[in-house]
Amino acid sequence: MKMKIAVLTGGGDCPGLNGAIKWITKSALDPRIAATRSVSFEVVGIVEGWKGITEINPNDEKSCTRYLKNLDEEVVRTWDRYGGTNLGTSRTNPFNPKNDRSERLIDNIKKLGIDAIVAIGGEDTLGVAYKLYKLGIKTVGIPKTIDMDLSGTEYSLGFDTSVNIIMEEIDRLRTTAGSHSRIFVVETMGRHAGWLALRGGECSGAYIILIPEYPFDMEKVCELLRERKGREINYSIIVVAEGAKVQGKQEFLKDSHVDDFGHVSIGGVTSYVADEIEKRTGWEARHIILSHLQRGGTPSANDRLMARWFGIAAVDMIVNDNFGRMVCLERGEIATAPLEGIINKLKLVDVEKYYDTERYNGRRTIFSDTR
Ligand code: F6P
Repeated sequence: MKMKIAVLTGGGDCPGLNGAIKWITKSALDPRIAATRSVSFEVVGIVEGWKGITEINPNDEKSCTRYLKNLDEEVVRTWDRYGGTNLGTSRTNPFNPKNDRSERLIDNIKKLGIDAIVAIGGEDTLGVAYKLYKLGIKTVGIPKTIDMDLSGTEYSLGFDTSVNIIMEEIDRLRTTAGSHSRIFVVETMGRHAGWLALRGGECSGAYIILIPEYPFDMEKVCELLRERKGREINYSIIVVAEGAKVQGKQEFLKDSHVDDFGHVSIGGVTSYVADEIEKRTGWEARHIILSHLQRGGTPSANDRLMARWFGIAAVDMIVNDNFGRMVCLERGEIATAPLEGIINKLKLVDVEKYYDTERYNGRRTIFSDTR
């Protein structure tokens, strides 16, 4: 039996996507493994995620050249070294109730002779994969999101590289912060979950970390800064997740734009925090938004490894007829989890377990005293 696998990436890009595509292709087409399988494969990349496979006109050669990329070992050979996604991405939701294009999407999948789809994405992209599965299309997922807020897996591609970038940028900021005795407020991504801010802040020794899961009190932030003043340290680094909120308030919004999946456009918390610090304490505070730098550049060693293993596992799932699920990391091992489990259920920071609400930082105890 021969199967045609389509691979696509959706949502925000991140380092690790190209590695996953490479290893899906390599393991699907590996001649040694092929000899042991009852099924052989052809692999095609879909350009720009769900948008590509919805927009494509299978009867038009130009459209097919625009949205399809045949993948083989030679094409993907060097891909794992590069960040981003060589297939391109989009935030298109074919099931958007205001513009439902799912019929066209399913029709295209059939016309293109696609037997199985590997969707690499976060909650939104994999949510579409789940809906398609429910409608009879064979889908498997690979988790990616630098926010690390996807349920059902301990790891999603991109997170480790992003945390490393945050750490490196904060290392750079320290020298200038110290020289000028300034407070720096650094914004990380993370609309709903504070994993990037918390882990990035912890590994770079930030003095204060503000996360969406624990709304903050501005006066308390200033109090913590005052506590520190007068000691030998003359600067402070504060890491803030973009979705962090002031107690009793909603998150800060950049504008009124809402995307295809209903997400609002977040922004403004770090300038607010820096301005308030200056107003309330009289100390100089600057803010910096790391923004898309956090998603750029080459993947870390861990992201390359995870991309490789996730890609290989996705092909194993297809061989084993294991659809409607995604590859995941469970207790440090590669496993699979139902796509259904990720819908409307984000993995947020467990404040009680990981966050010190007195210090606004990572906890300083790991085990609770059970004596
Ligand atoms: O979804 C991941 C994410 O990194 C969010 O934290 C962030 O709000 C968003 O992407 C921004 O991405 P873009 O500018 O591509 O919409």
